[in-house]
Amino acid sequence: MALLKFVLLVFGALSPSVLAQSCATINPVQTPSFASGYSGRVVINGLRTPRGIIFDNQGNLLITEQGGYGVRYVQLTDNGGTNVCVKSNKQLIAEDTINHGIALSPDGKKLYVSSQLYVWSWDYMAPQGLTLLVPKGRPDLLLVQRGSQDNIDTAAGQIETARSQIRVFKIADVEKSPVEYSTGEVLAWGIRNTVGVGEDSWGGIWSVDNGVDDMTRENKDIHNTNPCEELNFYGYINSNCTSVPTNSQTNHRYLEDPTVLPSPLNTQMKVGDTIAHGTANTASTCANCVSPKLCFPAHMAPLDIKFNANSTAAHIAFHGSWNRQPPDGFRVSRVEWDQATGMPVESVTSTTAVKNITFNANNADCPNGCFWPVGLTWDHKGRLFMASDSTNEVWIISGAEQTEGTNETM
Ligand SMILES: *[C@@H]1O[C@H](CO)[C@@H](O)[C@H](O)[C@H]1NC(C)=O
Ligand SMILES: *[C@@H]1O[C@H](CO)[C@@H](O)[C@H](O)[C@H]1NC(C)=O
Ligand SMILES: *[C@@H]1O[C@H](CO)[C@@H](O)[C@H](O)[C@H]1NC(C)=O
Repeated sequence: MALLKFVLLVFGALSPSVLAQSCATINPVQTPSFASGYSGRVVINGLRTPRGIIFDNQGNLLITEQGGYGVRYVQLTDNGGTNVCVKSNKQLIAEDTINHGIALSPDGKKLYVSSQLYVWSWDYMAPQGLTLLVPKGRPDLLLVQRGSQDNIDTAAGQIETARSQIRVFKIADVEKSPVEYSTGEVLAWGIRNTVGVGEDSWGGIWSVDNGVDDMTRENKDIHNTNPCEELNFYGYINSNCTSVPTNSQTNHRYLEDPTVLPSPLNTQMKVGDTIAHGTANTASTCANCVSPKLCFPAHMAPLDIKFNANSTAAHIAFHGSWNRQPPDGFRVSRVEWDQATGMPVESVTSTTAVKNITFNANNADCPNGCFWPVGLTWDHKGRLFMASDSTNEVWIISGAEQTEGTNETM
C-alpha cells in the first residue's frame, strides 16, 4: 500500500538569490570521451547525488538531489555552444524523501517530484524512487512508475501487488488528496525496475527496464550477460487516447546471450527471446507477454530515455553495471528511430542498436573512475544535459541535435 502526495508550485512566485559566477572552466571529476562531432563540459558540480533533471519553460534547470536535499533550482547564463554556466543556484524544495523523479505539467505551472511516497513498510519503497511523466497530449494525466521490492520479486507477477508497474493517475484526483498507488489505472505490469519513462513525438510511451542480478539456469551462472536490459513500448497516450492500454510482461527474462544457457536452449534461442521466471532451463510460454523492442547488454542500468524533437533518435543514460565483469554502461547512448513506423530502426535481435555519445575511454576504470549518468534533459536549443551522481555534476553535451528536444520527463 502506498500513498502519493503531490507538491504544487507556481513558478511566478520564485525569486532566486543571484550569486554572480563567471563561466570559468569547471574541471570534471572524470573526463569522458565524446563521439565525433560531440563535445561537453561541466555546468555545475558539487551537487549531492543528482538524479532527475528538467528545464522549466523559462530555461531554468531543476535537479532532484537524492542525498536528502530535495529540488535545486539553477538559473543559467548561456554564452552559446557548451559555454553555459550557473547564474544563480538555490534549494527550491527542502524535502529529504525526494530521491529521483521530477516532471512539469506541459503548461510549466506545476512541478511533480517523487518519493513523496508514504508506505506502510519501508520495504515497499522502490530503491530508485518513482519515475513520473505527464504526457504532452494528455496533460490531465500523470504516469507513475514503481519498482520491485527485491532483486527477484516473484509476487510482483501479480497485478494486485502494485509493484513493478506503471500506473496512470488523473492529476485532478491526486491534487485533491493523497491517492493510493494501487488505485491508478495499470499501463504496464511485470516490468521489474523501470526507471526511465519517455514519450516520443506521437505520444508513444517507452521505458528502459533494469533486469535481475545474479541470474542462473539449472545451477549454471549465466548472469554476466543475462538477462538483457529492456526497451519497452506501451502504446500511445495522446489526444486520441480513450482508454489506457494495459501491457504485461509478468516477470519474464529476455536474453542478451542465449549461448551461455544450458543445453539445449543455448542453440535454440536468440537475442531477445524469453525464458520463464525461475531457474528452470525452459522457454517461456507466456501468451500475454509483450516483448521488448530492443535488448541492451545486461546490468548496464538504463535510467533515462529522452527523444529528440522529431523522434529520429532517443538518447539513453546507462548508469553502469556492478553485476558484470568487465563493467559496462557508464555512458550516454543514441538509438536511431524510424519515423515511418515510430519504432527503433533496429530490431530486438540487434546487438548494435546503441551508439556511444558520451562514454568512458576505458570501462576497466569503472565503476570508481567513471561518471554515472542518471537524468537527461534537452534545452530549447537541442543541447543535452546529463546529471552524473558519482561525480555530483551536471554536464552539457553539444552536437546531440540541432533542433529543439523534448524535456518533460524524468
Ligand atoms: C488522432 O487520430 C487522427 C485520425 O485517426 C490522426 O489523423 C491523428 O494523427 C491522431 N493524432 C495523434 C496525436 O495520434
Ligand atoms: C562504447 O564505449 C565503451 C567504453 O565506454 C566501449 O567499451 C564500447 O566498445 C563502445 N561501443 C561502441 C559500439 O563503440
Ligand atoms: C529531425 O531532426 C534532425 C535534427 O534534430 C534533422 O537532422 C532531421 O532532418 C529531422 N528529420 C525530419 C524527418 O524532420
